[in-house]
Order: sequence, then structure tokens, then C-alpha cells
Amino acid sequence: MDRYIPKDFLHPLPVGLAVATAVGLTAYAGVRRATKRRLAVAQQANTKFAPSSHTSSYVPVAIFVGGTAGIGRGMAEAFAKYTKGNAHIIIIGRNEQAARAIISSFPKPTAKGAKHEFVYCDARLMKNIEQTTKELLAKVQRINFLVLSTMDASSFSKVDTEEGIEVKMALIYYSRFKFTTDLAPALQMARKNGEDAKVYYVAAPGWGKYINWEDLGLRKTYTFSTLRAQIPLYQDIILQELAVRHRSLTFIHAGPGVVKTGLVSKASLHTRVFHQLLYFFYPWTKSYSESGEFMLRALWATADRPGVWSVDEYGNELPKGTIHVATEDERRKLWEHTVEVTTVKSI
Ligand SMILES: NC(=O)c1ccc[n+]([C@@H]2O[C@H](COP(=O)([O-])OP(=O)(O)OC[C@H]3O[C@@H](n4cnc5c(N)ncnc54)[C@H](OP(=O)(O)O)[C@@H]3O)[C@@H](O)[C@H]2O)c1
Repeated sequence: MDRYIPKDFLHPLPVGLAVATAVGLTAYAGVRRATKRRLAVAQQANTKFAPSSHTSSYVPVAIFVGGTAGIGRGMAEAFAKYTKGNAHIIIIGRNEQAARAIISSFPKPTAKGAKHEFVYCDARLMKNIEQTTKELLAKVQRINFLVLSTMDASSFSKVDTEEGIEVKMALIYYSRFKFTTDLAPALQMARKNGEDAKVYYVAAPGWGKYINWEDLGLRKTYTFSTLRAQIPLYQDIILQELAVRHRSLTFIHAGPGVVKTGLVSKASLHTRVFHQLLYFFYPWTKSYSESGEFMLRALWATADRPGVWSVDEYGNELPKGTIHVATEDERRKLWEHTVEVTTVKSI
């Protein structure tokens, strides 16, 4: 007698779905395993970091502007872990409570001069940054690592500060430039001592498509898409000019890939839903602490000489040709614009 086979069993849709799900889950697990392997390599590199000048070891001074959350937090935590707390770590942002909680999780310092502190600064305003950098220069004579990862994606519309700068542009571009140029003397001092002196932008190297030279700062042509299409290129170019002006320093522009942070936690509902789905389904999504390890590896190990470095989400240098090499004229124009916008006008 023939065995009874339910009709639905051979129905192609459930079979296809089951096969697709199995393939999808296997591929997903494969990507996660590859990320874990890469993470182990990055962690191995990070364990090797030993701050030493030509003559002796030193307690590194590291500033994390945007270290109260997300990727900046991941980098600060990894930094504290590998230095065993023996560093002068300064976290800058607005959320003091978050900063205190992060600092309390750091290993307690035992070396002379090592300490961990929070400095409040609302980096949307250039005048606040100027005041903060003055305080920092009074506090530290040298800076070894300046990591900048500020951004606020709560609104994609044009929102201007009282200084007339669009808020997102202020955080992702102008504030970082101002911190860098104001603190350059302390970075140079570190270099003079034979120590590391590195500036690190967490953003999007190579993602810029063009620059509208007739409307620098997007005063007339702002939309969130024009910002996304242009600002990464501003960053690539300004770092090239900074490297020309500060030949002993190292400048790094890192693209972290997709990282599960609170970046869009205050954005519109559909943006938040889109990102939750992305974090869930996109297997290359990293946690903030995984990203912190990869980004730290680029800071400590990949970028091992002065100049400009562009690195990917795993902390590897991007292939040659990925980044637009700016002409002298492009660098000069952008420099002049950026200095003008970030100069605090005295009343
Ligand atoms: N997450 C990703 O998937 C991803 C992907 C590509 C590129 N990126 C880029 O990576 C960078 C870091 O992103 P993230 O995901 O780490 O963001 P995040 O988790 O939202 O962290 C942003 C940081 O910026 C600080 N910040 C915001 N407004 C500030 C203000 N007015 N003054 C001072 N600090 C301010 C926040 O501190 P307070 O709240 O304490 O002020 C926080 O520490 C951004 O430039 C982002 O565009 C991220």
C-alpha cells in the first residue's frame, strides 16, 4: 500500500522558505564567526600597546570627545582596559552621569599621573570649545590621543546654533577641527618628547561624493542628503591639510561600519524602526564595544607613522585610491572656510 504523503509537504513555498532560512542563518552565523575571529586579532594587537618614547615609558594622555556613548565610549573603555587604567583619560560630552558610570568601570590607576575625569562641553558652540580647550591646555601639557566622535542625529532637518552653524555640521565637522587646532600645541609637545601624538575622527572616510565649492557650509543648499554626500569629503580633505601643517602628527579618519549605538535613539519613529531592523538582520553589525576594539587597533597599531590614515570598520587601512587626494587649491579653500567658521568672534 502506498504511504500517505500530505499534499502540503511537497508544496514548494514552505520548502523554499525553509531552505532560504537555513542558508540565511548559516551565512549569518558565518559572518558573526568571521567578526569574532577579526575581533580576536584586533584584541591581540591591542594587548601589545606599550606607550614608550625613545627613552622611557610614559602615562598616555587620551581625550575622548564623544566618549560618553557609542563608539567613543567603546574606545575609551578599551583604552582603559589595555592600559590597566594607567592613563590620564578625559571624557568630554554633556552627559555627566553616563561619563561617571563609564569611568567607575575603568581599572583603578596605579601609575603616577594616571587619572580619569569628565569635562563638560556642549560642542555645538565654538565658543564652548574654545573655553574647554583653554581649560584642557591649562590642565595637561601634552596630549597623546585626541579621539573625536560627536554627532547628534535626533533631527535630519536644518537646525542652526546661535552661532549660525548647522548643528550636525558643527558636531561632525567644525567642532572636531576646532578641538584639533586648539589642542595642536599639546599634541606637538607629546611628539617633541618622542611620544605618540594622534588625532582620530570617527566618521566616514571615502564616503564623500563631491563638494559644492559655491556653498561651503551648506548655508543655501542644506539637506541631510547633501550633508551626507559632502561632509565626509570635507573631513578627508581637512585632515590632509592638517597633516601638511603638522607634519609630526598622525591623523586618522575611521569608518566604523554599522554599530549598534544610541545614535538615532531620538530620531523619528521610522528612522528608529529602520535601524532596529538593520541591527537585527545585518550580520556585520557590531556592538559598541566590538567597534571600540577595532577602532582602538587603528589608533594604536595601524596608523604607526605621522601623516593621514583612512581606516575601515575593522581598523585596517583602506586601499590606496579610495580617498580623494585634494589639490593644494581645494585644501586652501576648505581651510580658509573652516578657520573662518570656527573662529570665535569677540563681541
Ligand atoms: N553608529 C554607527 O553605525 C555609525 C556608522 C557610521 C558612522 N558613524 C559615526 O560615528 C560617530 C559616532 O557615532 P556613535 O554611533 O558612537 O554616536 P552616539 O552613540 O550617538 O554618540 C555620540 C556622542 O556624541 C556626543 N555628543 C552629541 N551631541 C553633543 C554635544 N552637543 N556636545 C558634546 N558632545 C555631544 C554624545 O555625548 P553627550 O550625549 O554626552 O553629549 C555621545 O558621546 C558619528 O560621527 C557617526 O556619524 C556611526
